[in-house]
Order: sequence, then C-alpha cells, then structure tokens
Amino acid sequence: MKISAFLSCSAIFLATFASAVMPDDPNKIDTCKMPGVVAYTIDDGPGIYNDELLAIMAKKNVKATFYVLGRKVDENAAQAAALKKILDGGHQLASHTYSHDNMDLMTDVQMKDEINKTSDTIFKHSGVRPAYMRAPEGRCAELCTKTMAEMGQIISHWNIDTNDWRFTGEKDPLVATKKSMEEIMDVLYNKSDPATDSFILLQHEIHEFSVRHLANEVIDTVIKKGYRFVTMEECIGEPAYLPGSTVPSTVPVPPTGTTIAPTSGGPVAPTDAPGPVPTVSQPNGGATVSGGPKPTISTPPKGDVDSSAGAMKVASWALGFSALLGYALI
Ligand SMILES: *[C@@H]1O[C@H](CO)[C@@H](O)[C@H](O)[C@H]1NC(C)=O
Ligand SMILES: *[C@@H]1O[C@H](CO)[C@@H](O)[C@H](O)[C@H]1NC(C)=O
Ligand SMILES: [Zn+2]
Repeated sequence: MKISAFLSCSAIFLATFASAVMPDDPNKIDTCKMPGVVAYTIDDGPGIYNDELLAIMAKKNVKATFYVLGRKVDENAAQAAALKKILDGGHQLASHTYSHDNMDLMTDVQMKDEINKTSDTIFKHSGVRPAYMRAPEGRCAELCTKTMAEMGQIISHWNIDTNDWRFTGEKDPLVATKKSMEEIMDVLYNKSDPATDSFILLQHEIHEFSVRHLANEVIDTVIKKGYRFVTMEECIGEPAYLPGSTVPSTVPVPPTGTTIAPTSGGPVAPTDAPGPVPTVSQPNGGATVSGGPKPTISTPPKGDVDSSAGAMKVASWALGFSALLGYALI
C-alpha cells in the first residue's frame, strides 16, 4: 500500500520532471552525427581502476571519452595523474562537474563555478579545457542548458546505458555484468542496425566489475555487431577542447564534417579525412574552434524514459542552438 502509493507518486513526479527536463526541444540529441559508431563514455572518475581500464582499451584499440569529476582530480595525485594517461591513450577528456551535485538545484553562478573549477583543475593537470560536459544523472533543465551554452559546454547525454551502478550489490561480478549488458544486448545487439544507428553508451569506471568484466563485454559486443568506437568529438563533430587548450598529439582532430578511419577493429567508415592532424600545440594554445558546419541535429530516437531510471535517462543530450552560437563566438 505504502509502496504502491510511493510508486504512483514517483511516477507522477518522474513524468513531471521528465517534461521539465525535456521540453520539446529539437536540439536535444543523444546520438552521433553518423551511423555505425558508438561513443563509449566513462563517468565518475578518475578512480582506482583507471589504469586497468586504459590497459583494456589500449589492448583492444578502443578510444573512449572520460567524463571526470573535478573533485576526484583534486583528491589525490594518482587521480590527477590519470588525466595525462587518458590523453596519452588517445582518449578524450570531458567534464562531469566538480561535485557531482544536481545542477538543477543550483543557481547559474553555482553551475558556472562547478564548470570553472573543473576546467581549471583539468587544465592544470592535462593542458586541456573540455568543451563537452555531462550533467550528473543527466539533470540539466532550462537554466542549466542556457548556462552551459554560455560557457561553451556541449551537454552530452546518452541513448544506451549499462546501468552498472545499480548492480554493485551483486556478489558475483559475472551476474552484475550480465545485468549491465541487458540493455546493450536488447537494444544495440538484438535490435539496432549499424547502417542506420549510432550510440552514446554510458558506463562508470569506479566499480570493480565494470572495469574487470563489463568493459570487455561491452567492447566485444559492440565490435561484433559491426560498430566502430569513436570519441565524442568524432561522434558530434565539434572540437573536444576550448581555446587555450594544448591539443594532445595522440588525439586526431577530425576536420569538421568528416570521419577518421579507425586503426583497427570494426568496419571502416568511408572517409575523406586526410588522417590525423599533426600534433603540436598551436601558438595560442591548441584546440581550434572554427565556425565550420555544425553537426546535424536529430531528434531523439526510442523511448527516453526507462522506468525508474526515469529522470536520468530522460532526455538525450542537449546541444542548444544558443550553445552553437555561443560556441562559434568563442
Ligand atoms: C572562472 O574563474 C575565474 C577566476 O575566479 C574567473 O576570472 C573567470 O571569469 C571564471 N570563468 C567563468 C567562465 O566563469
Ligand atoms: C536477444 O535475442 C535472442 C535471440 O532472439 C534472445 O534469445 C535474447 O533473449 C535477446 N536478448 C535480449 C536481452 O533481449
Ligand atoms: Zn556521474
């Protein structure tokens, strides 16, 4: 009785929340601009399994995007040192805010501080200032969307989720892994088509089974299905870092509107890219933000709201029109 009352209350709350987070905004997107790719996005680090995860990815030649917390970077030297290792592995660094608190309960000044502090500490330890951010639990309603746009931040949502954090209570890591693979098996493996679909896939790096068991499963399944891994930069087609960053040599910079062939694994997408752009930090820093063609905006596919994940899964990821404008002006 109590439980069902609670559930229906939650349902109403979630429905309300969902519509608040996800206005009918055609600019909210959660897929890549081209089919056949998967952006593997890793949240909540840097954590103690980061080295292991990087080793797995290096072995399988997978490039991912790490949404790190400023607070974790500042926590200890090992976690701060992870940032350079992530870049050296050819992965992309992105911001997951400083505190992991709910952005929708903050003022714009507090949100700016979250982004600013995270950007500063990431820059201090790696030389880059991320242009991509992910709001904790995906909570980024109107004020947040507007504020992120002002700061040149591309709000990164996702359209497929391991939900790995839910299964940390499982004693058997293989059971936890199987459960975390369910959505991927159902939606990506069983029902999707690399000829038409793309995914932004969410996982965490702070759970032991996620790194030691799940990562391999995710990678093998994605490749077996015929998808190719890309960073968010390639997925969306906007530079990974803000001006003033020193773009690491290990990260190929895709010319806007083109794709870069993977070095191995997965089908090779047609490309007219001349290959990785020579490294170097440019005079004024690095990351060149140009006003090239903007990514195609597509409407979110499939159901965004998955029961209790509700608010988290709600919405896809947002790239406001004003963000594009603001971005072009930086
Ligand atoms: C970030 O913080 C610095 C120092 O407090 C400040 O000068 C700068 O304007 C802030 N930047 C943004 C985008 O808020
Ligand atoms: C995927 O498809 C297979 C074969 O039809 C089926 O047995 C399996 O239950 C499906 N898995 C999921 C998670 O939907
Ligand atoms: Zn998180």
